[in-house]
Amino acid sequence: MTYHRTIILGAGAAGLMAAAFAGPDTLVLDHAAKPGEKIRISGGGRCNFTNLDVTAANFHGQNPHFPKSALARYTHWDFIELVSRHGIAWHEKTLGQLFCDGKSTQIIDMLLSEMRDAGAILQLSTQIEGVTHQGGQFAVRTDKGTYTCDNLVLATGGKSIPKMGATGLAYDLARQFGHDIVTPRPALVPLTFGDRFAPLAGVSTPCTASNDRARFSEALLFTHRGLSGPAILQLSSYWHEGEAIWLDICPAALLDTLRAQRQTQGRHALTTELARHLPARLVEFLAGEMDLTGNLADQSDARLGDICDTLSAWMLTPAGSEGYRTAEVTAGGVATDGLSSKTMESKHLPGLYIIGEAVDVTGWLGGYNFQWAWASGAAAGRAI
Ligand code: FDA
Repeated sequence: MTYHRTIILGAGAAGLMAAAFAGPDTLVLDHAAKPGEKIRISGGGRCNFTNLDVTAANFHGQNPHFPKSALARYTHWDFIELVSRHGIAWHEKTLGQLFCDGKSTQIIDMLLSEMRDAGAILQLSTQIEGVTHQGGQFAVRTDKGTYTCDNLVLATGGKSIPKMGATGLAYDLARQFGHDIVTPRPALVPLTFGDRFAPLAGVSTPCTASNDRARFSEALLFTHRGLSGPAILQLSSYWHEGEAIWLDICPAALLDTLRAQRQTQGRHALTTELARHLPARLVEFLAGEMDLTGNLADQSDARLGDICDTLSAWMLTPAGSEGYRTAEVTAGGVATDGLSSKTMESKHLPGLYIIGEAVDVTGWLGGYNFQWAWASGAAAGRAI
């Protein structure tokens, strides 16, 4: 048995950050052969590492106030300063999203160097077989031996992308130590509709996607299996199986424009005029779903109004989602009422900390989930 003051399970975004703050005599264990694999593939290989506009409103979970403390103590400016100190060039893309100019592996290298400078050790390819707690110490049983510690940090993330080694380990261990789990579900995930939209695969259009809980105005992308694109990914986090969603794909002022064009281009087919404002393949598809026959001159004000109303409130009920196979994150997780929002320490078992995606705090698309991983990791690491 080997003793370390602190053991961190999971060498992902949150675990590496916690290690950088927890300091000497910290051992980070991971079953993967490489650390930070999700960082590596994130943001199309350039890692959308944070956002310029981070508030608790960009996160959801049973207690919307919970992330406030950690986010305030380690802000996006702190991470930007860290990135800049390591000479990593970055740029803002859209909506405050910050990406590396180069590769996302720069972020992994930065975290590893911070962690090593703090005196923490990384041990990969280690299978966790179980954890017990006795006499104020944790014992972590692995295929490489048993390790004991005073502080145990659960940072093994959520269930998204099992192919990359995601497991429900943090939930199982948290439950074992008395924590409730808010039912995990795939989030930031494409929604499926059988093959209904297959003819439109690849078509993209601006959209406001909404339901009773949320509304996002971003791009919509049709796929062979359903709907994707930022507007849908964002809304998927607020969608529950069996519920309808609403799409507003009506371009601004379309009704006024069509009425005006009726005077000058009345002989043009309605579909031809609509295709000036919406993707032609989408108009062709919509013509099969609703009556778009006739010339513009044939359309009454009421008819044009009906068409615009339909485009503004297209109600659809997804068959499901693509699930954990492609979900960017897992919503739900370890219930926050069992954790200190300041330190991420368990209220049930002193010395136990739970951070990152494993916790019931889920961010929007756009760098928010990494900011939560950095902030919750820093909160636990500082407290240890
Ligand atoms: P994370 O999943 O990063 O790390 C968990 C670690 O635990 C892994 O190293 C894993 O191997 C290990 N582990 C799991 N089970 C284990 C077990 N049983 N035993 C031992 N080790 C185990 N976010 C964002 O803000 N900007 C972005 O650009 C993107 N892009 C993006 C793209 C894709 C394709 C995905 C899937 C996700 C994103 N995300 C994102 C989300 C982001 O990657 C995610 O929220 C963070 O990585 C979560 O950090 P954690 O450290 O909590 O988990």
